Amino acid sequence: MMGGNGPNTNEVGRVERPNWAPGDIDLERPSVARVYDYYLGGAHNFAADRAVAQQTLEMMPDLRRIVLNHRAFLGRAVRYLLGRGVRQFLDLGSGIPTVGNVHEIAQSVDPAAKVVYVDLDPVAVAHSRSLLDGDERVNVLQADVRDPVSVLASPEVNDLLDLDEPIGVLMIALLHFVSDDENPAGIIGGYRDRLAPGSFLVVSHSGYEADEETPELREVRTVYEKAVTRTTLRNKAELTRLFDGFELVEPGVVRLPAWRPESPEHPDASGRPFPGFCAVGRKAQR
Ligand SMILES: C[S@@+](CC[C@H](N)C(=O)[O-])C[C@H]1O[C@@H](n2cnc3c(N)ncnc32)[C@H](O)[C@@H]1O
Repeated sequence: MMGGNGPNTNEVGRVERPNWAPGDIDLERPSVARVYDYYLGGAHNFAADRAVAQQTLEMMPDLRRIVLNHRAFLGRAVRYLLGRGVRQFLDLGSGIPTVGNVHEIAQSVDPAAKVVYVDLDPVAVAHSRSLLDGDERVNVLQADVRDPVSVLASPEVNDLLDLDEPIGVLMIALLHFVSDDENPAGIIGGYRDRLAPGSFLVVSHSGYEADEETPELREVRTVYEKAVTRTTLRNKAELTRLFDGFELVEPGVVRLPAWRPESPEHPDASGRPFPGFCAVGRKAQR
């Protein structure tokens, strides 16, 4: 597909497999995790991923700022949960490790904090394992998060996390890759029903209100649909419904920059509506 000379291509334009890339992945097919890695400034991506990322960045130069807002929300939410006493985290759709990973934030507050990273993408999983090998407070699971029963029954989860104690379940920039016919509410319910009371659900999600879809947003979504994966954007009311069974923490479901900003400079300065919502919910005591 998108050839050309780049960091992973040889002089005849064939994609070369770097030693961090598992042998069974298709280097010519863009992946959500690797395109995201490129947006975040990472090095674990190929020409096909960079081509999609560059195309979408040209359509929507704001995209990098948007992605960084998802990562920043992740950090604020994890620090909030640590402040509420949570010391175990299940990071679903965790991606390719980059700056500000959950275990780094959590263990900077409590070295005993535990994290299980779950992703379907082989590069995300391989890189996570190579970075975290030897850390007994972190496990990495390659699994489809749409199957909560298998994820929660896995040794990676059960050997590390105590499901009878509160856990922070993170779904950052994940659920817009789960379509309505895949039943995101049912998937979340599969996790919620197994969690101890006092556990938290943290979600960030791309989306906007009906009157806000700009031509550039539509173009980016079309590129993703064609080249990478199906994408389902959701508005505030739709995201709110996904928190069924959780009590929303203040300020409820809001645009990402508006969730508990940690400094006065933090709120988004562009003045434009931010195309994404987020929230944190707490599973009530029985
Ligand atoms: C946009 S990235 C976000 C990564 C990370 N949560 C972050 O905020 O930096 C979405 C991640 O979800 C993963 N993903 C998408 N669908 C998945 C599924 N059904 N099961 C497991 N992982 C999935 C992708 O592989 C990718 O790494």
